[in-house]
Parts: sequence; C-alpha cells; structure tokens
Amino acid sequence: MAELDGKKVMVTGGAGFIGFHLSKALSSLTDNLVIYDNLSTGKMENVTDVPKARFVKGDILDFQTLFSQEKMDLIYHLAAQVVVPYSMENPMDDFNTNAKGTLCVLEKARKDDAKLVFASSAAVYGNPSVFPTPESYGFHPFSCYGLSKVVGEEYCQMYREQYGLDIVITRFANVYGSRCHGVIHDFLDKLAKNSDKLEIIGTGQQCRDFVHVSDVVDALLKVGIMPSVDGKVYNLGFGKTTSILELSKMILTSLGLQNKTIVTTTNVSWHGDVTKIWFDITSAKKELNWQPKVSLEDNLQEIIAERKLTK
Ligand SMILES: NC(=O)c1ccc[n+]([C@@H]2O[C@H](COP(=O)([O-])OP(=O)(O)OC[C@H]3O[C@@H](n4cnc5c(N)ncnc54)[C@H](O)[C@@H]3O)[C@@H](O)[C@H]2O)c1
Repeated sequence: MAELDGKKVMVTGGAGFIGFHLSKALSSLTDNLVIYDNLSTGKMENVTDVPKARFVKGDILDFQTLFSQEKMDLIYHLAAQVVVPYSMENPMDDFNTNAKGTLCVLEKARKDDAKLVFASSAAVYGNPSVFPTPESYGFHPFSCYGLSKVVGEEYCQMYREQYGLDIVITRFANVYGSRCHGVIHDFLDKLAKNSDKLEIIGTGQQCRDFVHVSDVVDALLKVGIMPSVDGKVYNLGFGKTTSILELSKMILTSLGLQNKTIVTTTNVSWHGDVTKIWFDITSAKKELNWQPKVSLEDNLQEIIAERKLTK
C-alpha cells in the first residue's frame, strides 16, 4: 500500500484493542504515525509494541492537545467508551466521549482537511428485525452507547456534506483476536479460575457476528486509501451469527472441557443488551473487494494458546 507512504496518519484510541492492531499494520506503511490515546482503557504495552509510532497521551476532548498536533492527512477515529452497561449507568460520560469526542476529532479533521475513518458499531441497529442486517436498515439504537455512535455518525455525515470532508463510516460487529476484551475473554477468565462451571450472563440465546481483528484491519486499510468510498458506510462482520451458548460449547471443546464443565445461564441480561447481531457484508465484499478470512473455529485455539491455557 504505497498510497500511505509519506502520509501523516493519526489513530485515536490506538492504545486499545483494535487501535493496536491497526497501528501495527499502519506502522509498516508510513513513517508518520501518531497514536493519540488518553489510556483510560488502553494499555501502554499496545503503544510500546508499535515502536515506530509517536505516542501522544491526550484526550480527544482536550482541544488544545489535539489541535497542537501536526497536520494530518488521514485520521482513524477509534477512541471511545465501548462498554454498553457503562453507557446505561453513565450516559453523560458516554455521550461526552463518543458524541462530543467525535465532534472534536472532526474539528481536527476539518482544520487539517484530513480524511477521516470513523469506527461505529452494530449498536446503531439496536434489535433489528431484518437479518442479515444491511447498512440501509437505519438507526434504531437500544442503548446509550448505540445512540452516542449514531450521533457520531450523523456528525460525520454533516461534516462531509457541509464542509466537504472525505469521511468513511465503518460499523463493526463483535471484533475478537489477540489482546481483545469481551465475551471470549470473559469465558476464558472464568474457566481459568474454575473449570467446573461456566456462567453465561443472559439466556445464552443472544447471537453475535464474530469478526477477527485482522479482517477488520484489512478493511480499515482499504477504506483509508480508496478514494471511491467517500460518504460510504460499511458493515464489517463475518456475515454469520453464533449464539453465546454455541460459543461456550466451542470454547469448552477447544479446551477439552466439554464433558466436565457445567454451563448455566442467569437468564437476565444487562441493560441495553441486544438479542442478535448478524451483518449483511455484501457492500464491503463488493465495493472494497474484501473478504473476512479468519473463522471463529480456526482462531479460538490461537487465542487459547496465547493465554497459555492448555487442554
Ligand atoms: N471491539 C469491538 O467488538 C467493537 C465493536 C463495535 C465497535 N467498536 C468500536 O471500535 C473502536 C475501538 O474499540 P476497541 O474494542 O479497540 O476498544 P478499546 O476500549 O480497547 O479501545 C478504545 C481506546 O480509546 C481510548 N479512549 C477512550 N476514551 C478516550 C478519550 N476521551 N480520549 C482519548 N482516548 C480515549 C482508550 O484508552 C482505548 O485505548 C471503538 O470506537 C468502539 O466503539 C468495537
């Protein structure tokens, strides 16, 4: 991807899970990479493991620090509050980071005339009635997190239409992979403590579309350089849905615990939890010439090995 050679690129949230993988990939494509993160949930090791990048410890809401950075050509905006239950308990805080914070990053993009790639979420669809869900399904958020991402998306579209900024919106399903957080790691944490039982929060019937972080990064790199994607919105998922109960069985089988561990469910989920995520990824496949390559089945062993859990 010679297109990024010499380009100044910023990744907000670059010390987080997806931001780390994206920054690592970008660092081999440009010598001018800035990771901008307040380390609220991000980790310093994610920064030090991308040694070619320049790290700025800064908050996206801190205009002075954000605006004092050099002029960028491309900004990947990933910094966010990402926890749905937290957003329901702390809607103002969630709004500040995800909605107002996105506006601050858009202002930086406007000042620099930089292209912006926004990380949105399946949460903007809420509980869809159409599966697999296409981008055109529209906004029906079911949590404050989903709503703050909708606001971010709407500001992106406004900045594109009114100020002529080059902006692409990517909506992620459930991203997993090395260094991730979320249900796979929660299960592995619980099993590492006690492999006799595994408690699923909710009914276990909730379904998710699991997409590997390397596939998401692949798509992000493509949209970062393609001129034809201005104003487009892309679902980035695997295009398959898996229930949490099925996931638990896959994990137990991978660990050789299928005949040992008793799986229970609380039957009560958290505020804002959605029933099913299953993305229609036709647009990304066709327009980006993109295809998710890593299946959940294939990657579970790798995640388990990384965590040094053995059968
Ligand atoms: N992981 C997923 O499955 C998933 C799914 C849908 C959407 N997304 C979106 O992808 C993006 C990255 O998610 P992730 O899973 O890597 O999350 P993450 O929590 O690992 O990373 C978010 C990063 O943003 C930083 N951050 C938070 N608030 C900040 C602020 N005010 N100023 C500067 N930095 C700040 C954190 O320190 C962290 O490093 C987010 O925008 C998230 O909403 C993720």
